[in-house]
Amino acid sequence: MKKKESYYLMREQLKEWMEDSQWIIEEDYIIDKEYYECVKDIFQNKAFQSMNQFIQHGNTSTRAHCIQVSYLAYHIAKEKGLDYVSTARAGLLHDLFLYDWHTHAKETGNRFHGFTHPKTALKNAEKEFNLNDIERNGIVRHMWPLTPIPPKYKEAFLVSYADKYCTLAEVFTQWKERAVQAMAKLTNA
Ligand SMILES: [Fe+2]
Ligand SMILES: [Fe+2]
Repeated sequence: MKKKESYYLMREQLKEWMEDSQWIIEEDYIIDKEYYECVKDIFQNKAFQSMNQFIQHGNTSTRAHCIQVSYLAYHIAKEKGLDYVSTARAGLLHDLFLYDWHTHAKETGNRFHGFTHPKTALKNAEKEFNLNDIERNGIVRHMWPLTPIPPKYKEAFLVSYADKYCTLAEVFTQWKERAVQAMAKLTNA
């Protein structure tokens, strides 16, 4: 298969994965041995696993969101000849803030989750893992341009890009589901 052809196939496959998180529920990422080898210790970590209890957007847990971001950024980094291991790891840890952001402001008075959570995620990740500079930068700068300092490394840019792509896909899926439910109610009324 020509390189360009396989690249487009990969993009199409990735698009499908980002819009449907069933493959995460079925733990398909374990089958991808090369990916799983890079991140196995993170998957086995209790703090990482605890993200399952928090909802990110729609029906997607924060853990599932981080897996999607990591997997998307990992594939692009590999395709571009970048440090895909650090990219995959930063993607998994970028939202390790460990609380429900929907109730966070009410519970703590902190109304700036969007600005503060990258630093909280970095602090939590540093407690659990030995991070390199790319991983640290990928976590702490992933909210750029909402937070003003841009990522320093290409790999960190990829984490930030994948985060936005996955967030949009999650929100879009949520809207789509709500529209389908509303239509069903209307047609049953
Ligand atoms: Fe985030
Ligand atoms: Fe995120």
